[in-house]
Amino acid sequence: MILVTGGAGFIGGNFVLDWLKEPKAEGIVNLDKLTYAGNLATLDLVRNDPRHVFVLGDIGDHALVTRLLKQHQPRAIVNFAAESHVDRSIHGPAEFVQTNIVGTFNLLECARAYWNELDESKKTVFRFHHVSTDEVYGSLSANDPAFTEANPYEPNSPYSASKAASDHLVRAWFHTYGFPVLTTNCSNNYGPYHFPEKLIPLVILNALNSKPLPIYGNGQQVRDWLYVGDHCSAIREVLAKGKLGETYNIGGWNEKANIDVVKTICSILDQLKPRADGKSYAKQISFVTDRPGHDRRYAIDANKVKRDLGWKPKETFDSGIKKTVQWYLDNPIWIEGVVSGSYRDWLQKQYR
Ligand code: NAD
Ligand code: DAU
Repeated sequence: MILVTGGAGFIGGNFVLDWLKEPKAEGIVNLDKLTYAGNLATLDLVRNDPRHVFVLGDIGDHALVTRLLKQHQPRAIVNFAAESHVDRSIHGPAEFVQTNIVGTFNLLECARAYWNELDESKKTVFRFHHVSTDEVYGSLSANDPAFTEANPYEPNSPYSASKAASDHLVRAWFHTYGFPVLTTNCSNNYGPYHFPEKLIPLVILNALNSKPLPIYGNGQQVRDWLYVGDHCSAIREVLAKGKLGETYNIGGWNEKANIDVVKTICSILDQLKPRADGKSYAKQISFVTDRPGHDRRYAIDANKVKRDLGWKPKETFDSGIKKTVQWYLDNPIWIEGVVSGSYRDWLQKQYR
């Protein structure tokens, strides 16, 4: 078994589905609190798979995590569970401190106690993989080189500060206790099952629902985009072959300005599902107030994971974004399930 946390969310859910596609894959215990971002419908394809055990609960619950480790004896933990949306962290940072910092601390402590009791052969094999973000490195200007693993941490939002704090805890547990950790810092993911508070799915759904496509500030902020399936394959590589205590940057070599991402989505929709009036979806673009402290540019140098572990992404941005738009057109039932009352409340609060 492996223990996955946050496996009903966007990336964790894709990871669980990808992992269990392999007929001989080990089973997964999937611990998820099912916050607004967690959705069991994402896991429909493995609903009847006996290798998947879903547990509703909090990574901060010491008794529960201890019991799960004892009961299932996982040979690895992959920690996806987090509060992940920058804008929500600006409105309310407390949950971010609680889950991302205190929750990760609890998971580390439960896992360390479990690991200490394993026999030598199991102890050697055990891994704690912490899934983190490029945002911990702060913001780049246009001509700065991409982030490497040696960049100092300079987080700017409550979200990135809480992820940076969790990365530091993970690092310290390796250096102090010899606890076998791996950390990956990844750029912006996109793909199926992405909650529509984030730029790409929000724009696809707003376009289809004849709503404005909100672009913060001047739309010139740059992100590096990685198809979620490629992030999942990178995590599998690092988990299998990564060097203990190391961090690995994961990225797509796909730097794009936000306005260009939105225009690309509009032109794909223009082809796949033209507007009734024949005009482009780009007509719906609307520039809105900027995000406070908005990071200008992220760029990832992923040469370490490529060189040391042989990983590289399969999708280009062009291929990945077309697949993604098509997925949202093909999955109205999943979409209906996530755009609940609490989702509408969030849109009202953020974009009023
Ligand atoms: P998400 O918000 O879609 O999903 C998070 C999941 O964690 C949800 O299912 C939620 O219910 C669960 N969760 C939240 N608090 C929990 C708790 N206390 N205990 C148990 N479960 C809890 O997030 P995501 O986009 O899938 O991101 C997953 C991880 O990857 C996060 O750690 C995030 O920081 C990191 N990351 C995300 C991106 C990205 O572009 N989305 C990029 C790099 C890194
Ligand atoms: O870089 C990795 C990070 O990517 C992850 O760690 C985070 O969990 C994930 O949410 C993502 O953070 P971003 O803030 O970059 O993603 P988001 O989709 O919220 O925004 C992408 C860019 O688009 C960002 O520059 C803000 C802008 N934006 C976003 C929204 C929601 C808009 O212009 N309008 C919007 O309505």
